Amino acid sequence: MIILGIETSCDETSVGIIRADKKNGKVEVLANVVASSLSLHAKTGGIIPEIAAREQVKYIIPAIEKAFKNLSNAREEIDAIAVTIGPGLIGSLLVGVETARAIAYAWKKPLISVNHLFGHIYANWIKQENDNQIEFPVVALIVSGGHTDLVLIKNHGDIKWLGGTRDDAAGEAFDKTGRLLGLTYPGGPQIEKMATGVTKDIFNFPRPLIDSNDFDFSFSGLKTAVLRQVERKQKDNGLNKEVVKNICYSLQNAIFDVLIKKTMTATKKFKAKSIVLGGGVAANQTLKKYFENYIKKNNPDIKLFIPPKHLCTDNGAMICAAGFFNYEKTPWEKITANPELYFD
Ligand code: KG4
Ligand code: ZN
Repeated sequence: MIILGIETSCDETSVGIIRADKKNGKVEVLANVVASSLSLHAKTGGIIPEIAAREQVKYIIPAIEKAFKNLSNAREEIDAIAVTIGPGLIGSLLVGVETARAIAYAWKKPLISVNHLFGHIYANWIKQENDNQIEFPVVALIVSGGHTDLVLIKNHGDIKWLGGTRDDAAGEAFDKTGRLLGLTYPGGPQIEKMATGVTKDIFNFPRPLIDSNDFDFSFSGLKTAVLRQVERKQKDNGLNKEVVKNICYSLQNAIFDVLIKKTMTATKKFKAKSIVLGGGVAANQTLKKYFENYIKKNNPDIKLFIPPKHLCTDNGAMICAAGFFNYEKTPWEKITANPELYFD
């Protein structure tokens, strides 16, 4: 079946089209158009919801038209339309949801409401090779700008939330500390770049909740720890590029130690066979390397899946995939009725 997917939960306007095989679950991406208003937000150091939504109003139809160029007759070929219904910025979500509803109504196609976080999880099911299948149970770590969640997936549609951040998300910690360090928005990719080549964890920032007996996270304290260091260095005129690089490396280490420890504890507790990562922070190659090294050393039987970078950040194809695999199994009416209630 062919699914059209629309994602407008934050600053991206993305339209994906996938062809998915019901027999073997193989997902092929036919189009994945992403238009972003990020450069406008870089000027203000963060996303301004009003600007994001106004840009999405401009981008949505051209993005759909561009995606449709990959089909010979979109109206005939598309079997269903998937759209992100939350969580996200309300003005932005409305652009995608109303557009999807209009197409579904005009073309009489089924409409699948998709939780954005399910989208990040299902980016992992795109184009999996047969010999490298994701095996259930799965522990999923979602690390994005707005969310840090650990989720147990026993099967498609059987998803249980294990824990999440009590304050800032991992991506938010990158973005806020990036701003403190004078780096451009979003901070995540900049911090990864700055940390490259550093090998010594000089600042040894706290690892919040690393030994807590749950699957919760807390990253807001890290921002304060970085701020204290920045203030100290500024006072003695020592905030140079070398120090910023060291702070970036130590910050990454602190965040990643906590993410890996909690994910591995969940994997052990629920006897998971696979770990999947999703969300913008999963695009970080150092996180990938740390996870791979940890698993190789401690749990070589566990399979690790991380989507390619362009599928880690927000995109329409992941919404198509989430829609496809949960089409009949997830009680979407429940989610539609209450977008806040995105996990059991
Ligand atoms: O999933 P995403 O595109 O949007 C949300 O759903 O929030 O994630 C965006 C977040 C931002 O906080 C950004 O700083 C972070 O992902 N990010 C990264 C990297 N690339 C993006 N964080 C760390 N390292 C990266 N390479
Ligand atoms: Zn996202």
